Amino acid sequence: MKVICTKTYEEMSYEAAKLLAAQIVLRPNCVIGLATGSTPIGTYDQLVKWYEEGRLDFSAVRSVNLDEYCGLDGESDQSYRWFMDHHLFDRVNINKANTNVPNGKAADPEAEGERYDALIQSLGGVDIQVLGIGYDGHIGFNEPGPAFVKPTHMVDLDPSTIEANSRFFASADDVPRQAITMGMGGIMSARKVLLIANGAGKKEILMKALYGPITPEVPASLLQLHPDLTVISAVDE
Ligand code: F6R
Repeated sequence: MKVICTKTYEEMSYEAAKLLAAQIVLRPNCVIGLATGSTPIGTYDQLVKWYEEGRLDFSAVRSVNLDEYCGLDGESDQSYRWFMDHHLFDRVNINKANTNVPNGKAADPEAEGERYDALIQSLGGVDIQVLGIGYDGHIGFNEPGPAFVKPTHMVDLDPSTIEANSRFFASADDVPRQAITMGMGGIMSARKVLLIANGAGKKEILMKALYGPITPEVPASLLQLHPDLTVISAVDE
């Protein structure tokens, strides 16, 4: 595990963007695994900046996102598909057909999970997976529970996650109660993992995840076993 502590969100974002950019330059048709939420916005802004300066080319890049709310489609501005279009895909020359987000409107979430895992396999796996971390230690939407769940699957969101994510909705009542998420198997299979964390409020859970016992009660703790994990954090006040 490599840990980079930065002083500011901007510095964290810059360092994270550098790793993603390096992957895109080294392998122009790489498969990047992407996350949504507040944390990666600055990273995506930096990638867009380099694209606008002519330093990055996304034309051959493929992407898979970690998760999507159940019941929302890409037209909804609360959906993770909309988030990705808005913060990254519509701002660079990525081929939208090469961008993948789980289908939150799938009638059969189990079949959707199987489809998504098969898709990731058919792409040759993920070269670098970006992750944020939830206050309860979730990654993707793998919430604390009795066991690590390997495949892409539907989850009931933890009340603390619903509360934390209500800032993006009119009220907590509007936050979908379920999501489809890449499982721990998909995340751990990525060749590189890049975990980013911002804000003093994330420090305690980050320390637990990186240095505490490996337990499904702190899903991110499994990352301790990943052979190529980089953590970039701006969590010190
Ligand atoms: C989002 C995701 C989540 C977030 C986590 C942190 O696709 O998978 O695990 O990374 O909830 O969210 P923020 O960055 O908003 O604190």
